[in-house]
Amino acid sequence: MIISFEKAAIRKNFLQVVLLICSFWIIGFCEVNAQTPAITLDLSKPGANVSPMLYGLMTEEINHAYDGGLYPELIRNRIFKDNKTVPEAWSLVREDSNSNAAIKLMAPAGQDNIPFDERRHAINGALTTCLRLTVEKTGGRLGIANAGFWGIPVVPSTSYKASFYCKGSGTIQIPRRPGQPAPANPAPVIENNTAGPITVTIESNDGKTIYASGTINLEKSIFWKKYELTLTTKTDIKPTADARFVITTNRTGLYFFNLVSLFPPTYNNRPNGNRPDLIKLMAGMQPKFLRFPGGNYLEGPLISDAFPWKTTLGSLENRPGHNGSWGYRASDGMGLLEFLLWCEDIGAEPLLGVYAGYSLNGDHIDAGPLLTPYVDDALDEIEYITGDANSYWGAKRAADGHPKPFKLTYVEIGNEDWFDRTNSYDGRFNQFRTAIEAKYPQLHCISTIADAQYPNLKITSGKKPEVMDEHYYRDSWSMWENASQYDKYDRNGPKIFVGEWATREGAPTTNLNAALGDAAWMTGMERNSDLIIMSCYAPLFVNVNTATATAPKAWQWDSDLIGYNALSSYGSPSYYVQKLFGNYLGDKIVPVTAANIPVQPRPLTRRDSTSGITKAPLVPTIFYSATMDEKTGTIYLKLVNTTGKKQPVAINLGGVTKVLPDAMMYVVSGDKPESTNTITEPEKIIPVGSKIKGVASKFKRTLDAYSVSVFQLSTGK
Ligand code: AHR
Repeated sequence: MIISFEKAAIRKNFLQVVLLICSFWIIGFCEVNAQTPAITLDLSKPGANVSPMLYGLMTEEINHAYDGGLYPELIRNRIFKDNKTVPEAWSLVREDSNSNAAIKLMAPAGQDNIPFDERRHAINGALTTCLRLTVEKTGGRLGIANAGFWGIPVVPSTSYKASFYCKGSGTIQIPRRPGQPAPANPAPVIENNTAGPITVTIESNDGKTIYASGTINLEKSIFWKKYELTLTTKTDIKPTADARFVITTNRTGLYFFNLVSLFPPTYNNRPNGNRPDLIKLMAGMQPKFLRFPGGNYLEGPLISDAFPWKTTLGSLENRPGHNGSWGYRASDGMGLLEFLLWCEDIGAEPLLGVYAGYSLNGDHIDAGPLLTPYVDDALDEIEYITGDANSYWGAKRAADGHPKPFKLTYVEIGNEDWFDRTNSYDGRFNQFRTAIEAKYPQLHCISTIADAQYPNLKITSGKKPEVMDEHYYRDSWSMWENASQYDKYDRNGPKIFVGEWATREGAPTTNLNAALGDAAWMTGMERNSDLIIMSCYAPLFVNVNTATATAPKAWQWDSDLIGYNALSSYGSPSYYVQKLFGNYLGDKIVPVTAANIPVQPRPLTRRDSTSGITKAPLVPTIFYSATMDEKTGTIYLKLVNTTGKKQPVAINLGGVTKVLPDAMMYVVSGDKPESTNTITEPEKIIPVGSKIKGVASKFKRTLDAYSVSVFQLSTGK
């Protein structure tokens, strides 16, 4: 139901109105006509500057954003550390039932009571766990298979880079201490015939179709060796993710495997690079910054699980991975340098979150000497990013292949430290900020506690924070109700970074109604982009696979921006709204006033009843913002109609000296709020551009039902 205050009054009195004299009726009619919403832009003088970094992206390892997402390694559990007891995602290939073979996880991390033999296969301090294939009796193909991240994507005429460490041996005699009795069940004697050809394939899960195949020649050696080969698919195959990666032999012996990798082509063919379709989707939004590495992923479940940036550097052989924050282990293939290169790929500036001594289980490190190593670690990290090649960490970055320092303006100290109800953030923030500003005076530190959101947890010691991070996860009603919250903020206080926000409707990616909530919210940020210097939606990515017999559901958080599986990807309606907002943005805020905006009652919530609210609050149904490109004179007017009815609007370009009659209009709309995009219907809701005519200093348009419209108007400058 949509009503405006005035309309409601007229309806209530409708019967009486009918009985009234004609002149009175005519007055009533005029009132109804006067209800057309009017949006008036004030172009008489340039408004405040739009923040040049208003729209960016936020990322963390959640929903298989990196492993099984942007980081295109196709082998799941490549260093066998994902699970301490079983070789997750790996299985035995044994085609002939008369053969005899088995696989075993060797030296599971963290278990000290395992036999010496199982522990002595570490390649280095990072690659401590491996997989053993024991072939006692041959027959058919025998080997190991990896299921990938919900399948291995196979596309025609494509080259995949495969590599793995391997070594072979015969029966292992476990050394015994003097006097130690012989084992009750001694290992069977297995002849070491491991040397020779090993076949590597990408094949259908039933093993019947080979999509690509190659061989390596396993050396007769007890030492680890890295083997590499390229697997190229044929031209005539149909794309599928119903595939696995397989390494097989036909000879007896014990085979050991570690760091098994299969890489498809990457964006710009960068080794250890990114998945091209996802980079293109992000670049399409023209984001100005990338906030990383989290989010909860920065903090980790325990203090020891914080994002370990130092062990994410250099060759993959030196990356042990770490416990993620969302229920699965991170390979750290997406390491600090990869984040920075990702920024380069999409033309965004890094916005670094540094670990500030608080973990998700609620533990924290008090400000003072105990926190100093963490502060030093953050300073090192900043030096890795921004230091010249003569600095200690800058030299490491140069050695890692990027001599040029990266641009960095903002450093966020921690993440969501309002969860730490001990109030320790005040001291922790100050210790970090003081050290960072002393060494890097050009940097701006962001506080994760914002006065407006958590007035009781304010930073009181030291200088007042320059920038505060606010997070909002809301439903569309709440977004509509609060879309103008920043209109009222103090202009003399700190700047605001809306570091995580989303309208949470739809799963795994958001639907049209969420996009309408987002758009309304963004008009509020845009109108106030003198105050809101940056904003980024979260979460950015979701692997949309549901649970299978061998793998759990891929995502942990509903309502995400960009969805994908192993083969393809798509943007949600929210994605397209953000793309429009980011692509059509001026550098000056144009003040806008509105009249006759219809309102609708927001359904009452449980929170309302606990706060004693019994009358449904009325929320607007139309939202608006306008910006102008000072150089070209282009005006970008954004209008959101959240209702299922077409909505005429009168648009007044107050103070404009000239406006061209022909303009462009871009609309995201749909027939119902639940409409959405999916992996099988990826472009159901996308922006539609059209030319419009008859634009003048006063003109009328009718907004589509459930729509976000961007007008690109030219002043002929
Ligand atoms: O975006 C998902 C999570 O929400 C982030 O990791 C955390 O910062 C917030 O609570």
